[in-house]
Amino acid sequence: MTKQHPAVTTQDPDGHATPPAPTAVFGRTTRLDVENPPPDLYGRPRLDRFMHAITAFSDVYTPAMGRPLLRRNPRLPAPRARAPLTLVVTGHRAVAEDVVELRLADPSGDRLPAWQPGAHLRLTLPSGKERHYSLCGDPADRGAYRIAVRRIADGGGGSREIHDDLHLGMRLTVRGPRNGFAFCGEPTLLLVAGGIGITPLLPIAREAQRRGLDWQLVHAGRTAASLPFTEELRALDPARVRFVTDRVPTGAELLAGARPGTAVYCCGPAPMLAAVQDAFADSPARALHFERFTAAPILDGRPFALQLGTDGERVEVPADRSALDVLREARPDLAYSCQQGFCGTCRVQVLAGTPEHRDRRLTAEERASGALLPCVSRAAEGATLVLEV
Ligand code: FES
Repeated sequence: MTKQHPAVTTQDPDGHATPPAPTAVFGRTTRLDVENPPPDLYGRPRLDRFMHAITAFSDVYTPAMGRPLLRRNPRLPAPRARAPLTLVVTGHRAVAEDVVELRLADPSGDRLPAWQPGAHLRLTLPSGKERHYSLCGDPADRGAYRIAVRRIADGGGGSREIHDDLHLGMRLTVRGPRNGFAFCGEPTLLLVAGGIGITPLLPIAREAQRRGLDWQLVHAGRTAASLPFTEELRALDPARVRFVTDRVPTGAELLAGARPGTAVYCCGPAPMLAAVQDAFADSPARALHFERFTAAPILDGRPFALQLGTDGERVEVPADRSALDVLREARPDLAYSCQQGFCGTCRVQVLAGTPEHRDRRLTAEERASGALLPCVSRAAEGATLVLEV
């Protein structure tokens, strides 16, 4: 049986968002047209086209998922991006150790835009930081969006701000929902969550239960107290849910519930994703969709240099660090969010030099005009990029 390439979905520097990383898929998806998924997960040219197609698809057809697949007439003008929402915090409560859940609603009580399991929001926090968080509520609840955020003490500060500074009644600018981790509705499912990675998988489990699909979920974490939404999961069907808190499970253990034809959806920290990816080839599962919520690993990194302005400081980017990491040491205020090359927040302008674009966001025209996403993009070994920062 042919296995699908992985569909990567989104991520966030503070512990969660999915971000896009749309779905990394090994195998064959059933609802999305990804018959020829890209060979490269980390932003090389073919993936860019794939990701643009998937993102565009999600934006247009997210409200239609669950109904027969629609296709946009290519002769029609492209849809305009949805305007940002201003939402008010109507709920802020602890749902596990170091995890708070927010409820966000329209200040006038209007119904919120529809979304589908796997979707995420992009929040602009009062400090100006932008962060992506998966929706963990029920799409049938159009009165509020629910997200859950784990405090990352040594993260970029977004999760601390949400935990410590957000209060009921505060208003936030919110973009989305967008879906980079689309649920394809396969009949047999294994959902694998690590810690706060449960957030996009909870709505998927809910939807699978609603549709009467054959689903199993394994949720791994440090301790039972650190796992959010355990009761909500048990309430769906306790026989389908397994928690692992006494050890770090191997990829084979995580995939132990997979049967021939199973589609695996995985969201969690990078080591878990790597373990599941490694074990996938030897499992009977047919497809693997995953969403990471930390910076993508650097593959084939080579050292290069950045010059900050035409007459500015020169900094070296080692093979194992991103240009964004290095840039932020010199420019701590440089905005960023997903660290995976899909949100566009960290965009900078190249004044000279030839970048190696590894993002999934920029168009050919934007690249030609000098745009660069330094969270993932690099340059050839020994080269120098002169940036306008
Ligand atoms: S931080 Fe999102 S594209 Fe760089």
